[in-house]
Amino acid sequence: MGTVKIAVLVSGGGTNLQALIDAEKRGELGCGRISLVIASKPGVYALERAKNNDIASCVLARKDYDGIASYSKALADTLEENGADLVVLAGFLTIIDEQVYERFPNRIINIHPALIPSFCGKGFYGLHVHEAALEKGVKVSGATVHIVTPECDAGPIILQKAVDVMQDDTPETLQKRIMEQAEWKILPEAVRLFCDGRITVENNKVIIK
Ligand code: GAR
Repeated sequence: MGTVKIAVLVSGGGTNLQALIDAEKRGELGCGRISLVIASKPGVYALERAKNNDIASCVLARKDYDGIASYSKALADTLEENGADLVVLAGFLTIIDEQVYERFPNRIINIHPALIPSFCGKGFYGLHVHEAALEKGVKVSGATVHIVTPECDAGPIILQKAVDVMQDDTPETLQKRIMEQAEWKILPEAVRLFCDGRITVENNKVIIK
């Protein structure tokens, strides 16, 4: 298989982007090459990470567009111009519409910081996810990598990893443990599976060959 061009979409610190960069450097993304980083706002630290690693980057700010449709079109156009084969949402917190998913069917994946179908869907992002998990008192949480479909956080699941919740956790300590023990591991693993051509979708479920 030839090179798989990966575009990573970010909105914040970009620790998941860093995990992907490190995995690529270690040769763990197979044919995958991170070729573009797109940030949904200027000044986020993820852009520094791209720059420090000589990865092309650009900012597509939601506030520069009239609505979700025109923003989504600009995003999909940029991805197409770049020739992206795989799009990774790595803490990308801006809403995009179905035209992006339709133009990249089964080629957009997302990392979510909980075990889907728990603590997911509209409003569940970043620390809010961990606040909800602690509020419920779950003893185990974790992370999920899934294929993105128009229904929020409902697409076919590629990988999941469970992480213990501690009695004295705060949203911040739980977030950190889930990142370290789950997100930074399963996101590069899922990207590798995609780049190796091992992911297929049957009846809305991922089959790993
Ligand atoms: C990560 O915990 C990611 O799972 C989460 O945002 C954080 C981004 O951190 N994503 C969502 O909540 C999506 N619903 P990062 O910028 O350091 O990778």
